Amino acid sequence: MSAVNHQLRLASRPVGAPVASNWELTAEPIPTPRPGQVLVEVTHISVDPAMRGWMNDRPSYIPPVALGEVMRAPAVGRVVASNSRAHPEGCWVTGLLGVQEYALSDGSGLLRIDPDRAPVSLYIGALGIPGLTAYFGMRDIGHARAGETVVVSGAAGAVGSIAVQIATIEGCRVIGIAGGQEKCDWLTEGLNVDAAIDYKRADLAARLREATPDRIDVYFDNVGGEILDLALARLAVHARVVLCGGISQYNATSRWGPLNYLSLLTNRASMTGLIVFDYQDRYEEAIDQLATWLGEGRLIVREQIVKGSIDRFPETLLGLFAGVNTGKLLLELG
Ligand SMILES: NC(=O)c1ccc[n+]([C@@H]2O[C@H](COP(=O)([O-])OP(=O)(O)OC[C@H]3O[C@@H](n4cnc5c(N)ncnc54)[C@H](OP(=O)(O)O)[C@@H]3O)[C@@H](O)[C@H]2O)c1
Repeated sequence: MSAVNHQLRLASRPVGAPVASNWELTAEPIPTPRPGQVLVEVTHISVDPAMRGWMNDRPSYIPPVALGEVMRAPAVGRVVASNSRAHPEGCWVTGLLGVQEYALSDGSGLLRIDPDRAPVSLYIGALGIPGLTAYFGMRDIGHARAGETVVVSGAAGAVGSIAVQIATIEGCRVIGIAGGQEKCDWLTEGLNVDAAIDYKRADLAARLREATPDRIDVYFDNVGGEILDLALARLAVHARVVLCGGISQYNATSRWGPLNYLSLLTNRASMTGLIVFDYQDRYEEAIDQLATWLGEGRLIVREQIVKGSIDRFPETLLGLFAGVNTGKLLLELG
């Protein structure tokens, strides 16, 4: 065990895309757990679009990361010192451990994970927040039903790649939207979606129209912006729009609103915001189902793993906005 805990803290709030001066690297002695606490050695840190929102000083579903605070991040690690029966030394855990090498926890929000059931990194991917978001979004908000047409944006990413597969498992006709031919090929050939659209090529509207002759029953939106607008224009009667994320807007410095929102009215459609944390009391059910599909080979996962120390976190986060990842982007410490 190293004697020092390296941490990444928020030094200032970004305007637009985060820059180096928004971050500060610090080093502190590794803390000693008090009664009821555990010390976790962090091995894998999740890199999520939502983190950009957490850096803003704006009211949201979760408080902003305070200036000077260790950057909030879901992570996985091993308990290396424990004063808690619930989390004995040697067990693997996941939770909001932060962008740091060692995290002290009183156990709240800490979930014990089974490294024999799946590789531990998947507990911040397909069996973690992204998988859970896809699961509850597609099932509880999208109510995707067999025979329906489902369109997912950001389809080759962590949430999107699970969302398209859940819709396929439900028996839907599935169309994924992603940036670039390689991602689209993975969607059709690797994940068996019915059609994939590269939104970076011209004439997205025409290609979406061609791919959805019966219009869209469920639109699972990860990106917002123009793609959301075009999907709204293709809604079927009683369609459900799952408002999961809007990455195209996260670094924007001016506001944008959809032009085609009246399609919700004419089609008696709904658009519902999703916050995965609202489903915490059902995480176990969802993890169990996702792990079962994984074991049966019905769920295929891909990870984009950046290996290094926590000083690689800022550049890795920026990669999300450039679309460098296929599947789940994460930082593996070591
Ligand atoms: N509501 C919730 O509770 C919840 C929970 C988790 C995540 N989310 C949201 O779900 C979405 C996906 O998250 P994730 O973790 O799975 O990330 P991800 O999809 O793995 O990574 C982000 C992807 O977004 C795409 N992208 C970047 N800029 C874009 C733009 N301007 N227009 C269109 N696409 C763009 C890129 O793929 P391309 O190469 O295809 O452009 C990139 O790979 C995010 O919006 C996130 O905030 C919501």
